[in-house]
Amino acid sequence: MSARLTARPGSALAGTVIAPGDKSISHRALILGGLARGTTEIAALLESADVLATAAAVRAFGAKVERGRSGWRVTGAAWRSPARPIDCGNSGTAVRLLMGAAAAFPLAATFTGDASLSQRPMARVTEPLTRMGARFKGGPRLPLELLGGGIGGIVFIAPIASAQVKSAILLAGLGTGAPVSVTEPVRTRDHSERMLRAFGAEVSETPTPDGLKIGLGPTRALTATSVRVPGDPSSAAFPLCAGLVVPGSRVRVEGVLTNPLRTGLFETLREMGAYLAEEPDEAGSGEPVASITAVAGSLSGVEVPAGRAASMIDEYPVLAAVAAFATGTTVMRGVGELRVKESDRIALMIDGLRACGVECEDGPDWFAVHGRGGDVAGGAEIETHGDHRIAMAFLVLGLGARAAVRVRDADMIATSFPTFASLMRSLGADIS
Ligand code: S3P
Repeated sequence: MSARLTARPGSALAGTVIAPGDKSISHRALILGGLARGTTEIAALLESADVLATAAAVRAFGAKVERGRSGWRVTGAAWRSPARPIDCGNSGTAVRLLMGAAAAFPLAATFTGDASLSQRPMARVTEPLTRMGARFKGGPRLPLELLGGGIGGIVFIAPIASAQVKSAILLAGLGTGAPVSVTEPVRTRDHSERMLRAFGAEVSETPTPDGLKIGLGPTRALTATSVRVPGDPSSAAFPLCAGLVVPGSRVRVEGVLTNPLRTGLFETLREMGAYLAEEPDEAGSGEPVASITAVAGSLSGVEVPAGRAASMIDEYPVLAAVAAFATGTTVMRGVGELRVKESDRIALMIDGLRACGVECEDGPDWFAVHGRGGDVAGGAEIETHGDHRIAMAFLVLGLGARAAVRVRDADMIATSFPTFASLMRSLGADIS
């Protein structure tokens, strides 16, 4: 039987913690390091199960990947066929970015994943990669075999806002001199663009009537560099939101990445009336970083516009938990992508919130939470379908509720935030 964790309401949370490394940047640091000439030093890499799957994969493709005392070192290579299938575990980012990177090389690789990843859509990546010249056997879901090499150009107008799809295409495009561009209807996290530039590739950004066109320039060879991974705003969200909903709390999280393409949650919380103070920290690898302090107080429901979804796509579960404590209704629009994340996050949030005495409703690409004005019953055991963010969101809810909340499959929290429970306990949270 898999692990359960219980969050019990208790005293106010107080203290300062450091945000764990950003998951998106950690995956990219390993992959770009594995493609670059020379040795890339990575400090503060997130050592979560998802990222470790990418580290193992990059090694299996032929790069040297070592964990030293002061950080990780990756020495790039021309990727070759791995001896065994590449197991990406629970990680959509791992499989989609690795498929793109590997497609640039004449190799054969089979990609597998856990039960959740094996149900997630892969055609969004395999279709553009096929247009570029890669071949796939199997599918449309995992397991899939990639036959890479012979990559040509693509002018891709993205039908959905997805940083993973954009990144897969740009990474595959490193294997050709032909024009490669992705036009995004809505801007998504730009870590691949920033990091490709830091590794010496040319990446252009041109506004067009269809959205922002991101293109590879003629210089595509990557050279090793050093990367300092900033703290993950998607993980920092949990202690900060707990600080907002547990009466009397004051929680400070240091080293949080504040790239504006990642901070839609903080903007939304402020619109709800949250006290969230931000002081800039020293920047990490060309990204803005800040310390953020959350102080508990009353919150009001808001409408979260569809245009903001990409900048907070992983934060809707915890926002829904916070919305349960607000006065009035919070409506989240344009969030159909939540149905194809590690779980159907809309369905699981609705079921869990109802079990905790919170009324809510949903449609194909929206959901709404009717806030309880600070009085959330809790007292339920929550089905998470192994989704780490659903588990953490309900543990946050349990800390502020009237009765304890227990989550199933809590071991899956290690996919993104292995230190979650200990970090929360260091702030005074009763989670065990
Ligand atoms: C990620 C992109 C997002 C996000 C995921 C990480 C990335 O996925 O949900 O957790 O690192 O590029 P999509 O590209 O599917 O929106």
